[in-house]
Amino acid sequence: MEIKKVVIIGSGTMGSGIAAQLCNANVPVTLLDLKTAISEKARERILKSRPPLLIDKSKINNIKVGNINDDFNTVKDADWVVEAVVEKIDIKHNIYKKIFTERKSGAIVSSNTSSIPIKVLSEKLSNEEKKDFCITHFFNPVRYMGLLEIVKNENNDLNKINSLKKFCEEELGKGAIICKDTPGFLGNRVGVYAMQVAMTEAFKMKLSIEEADSIFGRPMGIPKTGVFGLYDLIGIDLMADVLKSFIKELPKTDEFQIVAKEIPLVKKLIATGYTGRKGKGGFYRMKKADNKKILEAINLETGEYYSSKKIDIKSEKVDLKSLINRKDKYGKYGWSVISKIIKYASSLVPSVTDKFNDIDEAMRLGFNWVKGPFEMLSEIGVKNFFEKIDSFENNKFLENLAKSKNEDFYGERQLYTEIETLGKAKPKATKIDKNNSAEIYRFEDFNIVEFTTKANVLDYDSMDCLKKATNKPLIIINESMQFSAGVNLTYTMNFADKGDFKSIEKFIKYFQDTCKHLKYCDNPVISAPSGLALGGGEEVVLQSNFVVSHTNIVMGLVETLVGLVPAGGGCKEVLWRWSQSDEAKKDPDFAPLKVFDIIGYAKTATSPIEAEPLKYLKPEDKKIMNRNSLFSVAKKILEENKDFKAPEVCKFNLSGKPLKEKMIKVLEKLYNDKVILDHGMEVGKELANVLSGGETTIDKTLSEDDLYKLELESFMRLIQTKKTQERIKHTLTTGKPLVN
Ligand code: NAI
Repeated sequence: MEIKKVVIIGSGTMGSGIAAQLCNANVPVTLLDLKTAISEKARERILKSRPPLLIDKSKINNIKVGNINDDFNTVKDADWVVEAVVEKIDIKHNIYKKIFTERKSGAIVSSNTSSIPIKVLSEKLSNEEKKDFCITHFFNPVRYMGLLEIVKNENNDLNKINSLKKFCEEELGKGAIICKDTPGFLGNRVGVYAMQVAMTEAFKMKLSIEEADSIFGRPMGIPKTGVFGLYDLIGIDLMADVLKSFIKELPKTDEFQIVAKEIPLVKKLIATGYTGRKGKGGFYRMKKADNKKILEAINLETGEYYSSKKIDIKSEKVDLKSLINRKDKYGKYGWSVISKIIKYASSLVPSVTDKFNDIDEAMRLGFNWVKGPFEMLSEIGVKNFFEKIDSFENNKFLENLAKSKNEDFYGERQLYTEIETLGKAKPKATKIDKNNSAEIYRFEDFNIVEFTTKANVLDYDSMDCLKKATNKPLIIINESMQFSAGVNLTYTMNFADKGDFKSIEKFIKYFQDTCKHLKYCDNPVISAPSGLALGGGEEVVLQSNFVVSHTNIVMGLVETLVGLVPAGGGCKEVLWRWSQSDEAKKDPDFAPLKVFDIIGYAKTATSPIEAEPLKYLKPEDKKIMNRNSLFSVAKKILEENKDFKAPEVCKFNLSGKPLKEKMIKVLEKLYNDKVILDHGMEVGKELANVLSGGETTIDKTLSEDDLYKLELESFMRLIQTKKTQERIKHTLTTGKPLVN
C-alpha cells in the first residue's frame, strides 16, 4: 500500500501539525474543517509557527484547504484519512460514517485521539471497516516530537498497519510504537503520571517551584522546563482535562488516581485565567515593571507571586545516583519522584505492554527524556534500588527482579524499530576513551564520538576526544537533543574573569588544530547533526568530510551575537565554499561580502533546506527525516568510502584593504541607522578584517593557516574587550543576545 495522498479532518493544533509534516515529506495533503476559513487560518498558522513546522515554507501549497460540506469528495482520492477533530465521541462517530461512505476501498482511516479507546471509536464500524481503522497518536509539535503511537483493533489487516508504520517511520520520520488499547497509551500514561508525581511531591515536601523544576529537569535527564514550566507550556486547563479523562478511564485502584486529584491552587489558577503561557501566566509569569520583564514564580502555599530565584543544585550532568543519595531535601525529592515513577511504570508490565523497553522509548520520543524509567532503574542499579525501596506489592515486574537480582535485566534497546540506531549500536560497542566532555566508542572498524556536556557545549576535552578518535574512520553523533550549542562560554568566561587569556588562546588554537585535523586526516570524518549545531558545533560540521543531517536542525555561525567571530575555521570554511561559486569566479569580492553578510547577521537555518543556500550544508550532504536513521546512513557512507582520500587544501586570494573598506561602509550604514551600536561596529570590523584577508592584496595567495591566524587574532582581541564580555555574560544569564 502506497500513501500518495492524505486528507486530514480537523485543522486545529494537531491536524495542522500533521499536515505540515506530510508536506515536509512531499506528500500532498488536504485539510478540511467545519469552514474553509478555519483551515485557511490553519495554513497561516503553519507558516507563522515558531519553531517552524515546515522545513521548506515554499512548499505550503502542497497543503490544500477546504470544508467538510463542499470538499468532502477529496476523501475519495486519499490513501489515508486522518481524523483530528475535537475530542468528542459523537462528532468523531459522525465523521467516520461520512469517511467510510466516501473513502476508496482499502484506504486507511485513523484517529489522532489522545484519550478515547479504539473499542469506543470503532464501535459503530463494520468488521470490514475495522480492518482499515486504527489510532495514530502524534505528539505536539508534530515536526519536532519523535513519538507516534499506533493502536490497533482486533480486526486490523496487520500488513496494512505495518506498512503505515513503515511510512510514518521512513517518510514522516517518527518513532512509531505499537501500543495496546489502554488509557493514555504509553507516553501520556507514564509521562503525565510522572508530571503529577513531580507536582504533588513538591507540594508535599514544600519545595518551591523553581526547586522542583531544577530537580525534575537536567539532573534527571528531563528537559529543563521541569514540571511547573511544562504545565505552563501545555496549558494548565488542558492538563486538567487530561487528568479528568484519566480519572474516568482508569480503574479506581490505579495509582494514577492518587496523583490526579484536583489541587485547589490549580483550580484557582484556571478559574482566574492563569492557564499558563497562553493565559495571564501560570506557575510562572512575566511581570513588566520599568520597561523590564521580571520572571515571577508562584508560592505553592500562599498562591502569591515573587521574583523567581535561580536554583543551583551544583549538578550539571544527568547523575541519578548522586541525586538520590544526597542527604538534603533535593535528594529526598529526587528519590521520591524517581522511585514512584519506576514503581508505576513497572506496574504496567505486562498488562499495558509486555515490552518494558517501549515505555522508555516512548518517554524519550514523546517527552524528550534522556532515560526512561527502566533505564533509570538500571542506572541506579538493581541492588541499590531494592535496598532503598520501601514496598512494591502486586508489582510482578519488581517482584521478579528482586528475586533474580539481575543487574543486566535491560537487554536490547529500541525494539520498536528495525533500523540500526546509535542506541542499539552503543551497547555493542567498546568505550575506548572518555573524559568530562565526550566519549569515544569503537564499533566494528570505526569510532563514534558522542559529546556529553550540557547542550553538548565544546571545550578542550571535547576537542581532545575528537582528535584521538581520528585514528579510525569517525562518526560524530549523539543521542541527546543537541548536536552542539557551540563553544562552552562559561568555560571561556572563567578564564577571562581571571585575566587568563593565554588559556583561551591555547583552547582556540587547539580547536582550530582539531578542526583542521578532522578535515585532512587520512580517515573520513562524518558529522551527523540534529537539533542545535551552532557556533563551534557548526564549525565541526563544516569541517567534517561528510554530513548526514537530520531535517530538524538549527544551524548557524552565531558568534557575532556574543561579540566574537567564528575562530574554529568557520569564517574560513564558509568563505571557501562561497569562493567556489560561479559568481565568485567573476568577482573576487563576491564571496567575502556574502559571508560578511551571513556571519555578520549571525544567520541561522532551521532546516537543511534553509542551510544549503547559506552554504552551511552542501547539496551532497544527506538530509534525513528520521533521526533514528542518522547512524545507519553515516555507517553506509563509511562503507562506500573505504578508499577515502582527504580533500585538497584550500587557497584564498582576497583583496585586503579595499575590500575591508567596502565592508566598513556596510557597517557605517547600519551604525547610522542604529541597527548596530558601538560594539557591533567593533565586532563587524574584526569580521571584515578576517574576511578581507587582513594585510593582503589580491595577487597574494593565502593558506588556510593564514585564515586561521586571522580568526584567532580577531577572536583574542574581541574576547579581551569589556563589551564582548558583557555580551557573553548577558547571554549566559538570559539566553538572549545583548546589543551594545
Ligand atoms: P483543536 O481544538 O486545536 O482542533 C480541533 C479542530 O477540529 C478545530 O479546528 C475544529 O474547528 C475542528 N472540528 C470540530 N468539529 C469538526 C467537524 N465536525 N468536522 C471537521 N472539523 C471539526 O484540537 P487538537 O488539539 O488539534 O486535537 C485534535 C485531536 O487530537 C483530539 O482528538 C485530541 O485529543 C488529539 N490530540 C491532541 C494533542 C494536543 O497536544 N493538542 C496531542 C495529541 C492528540
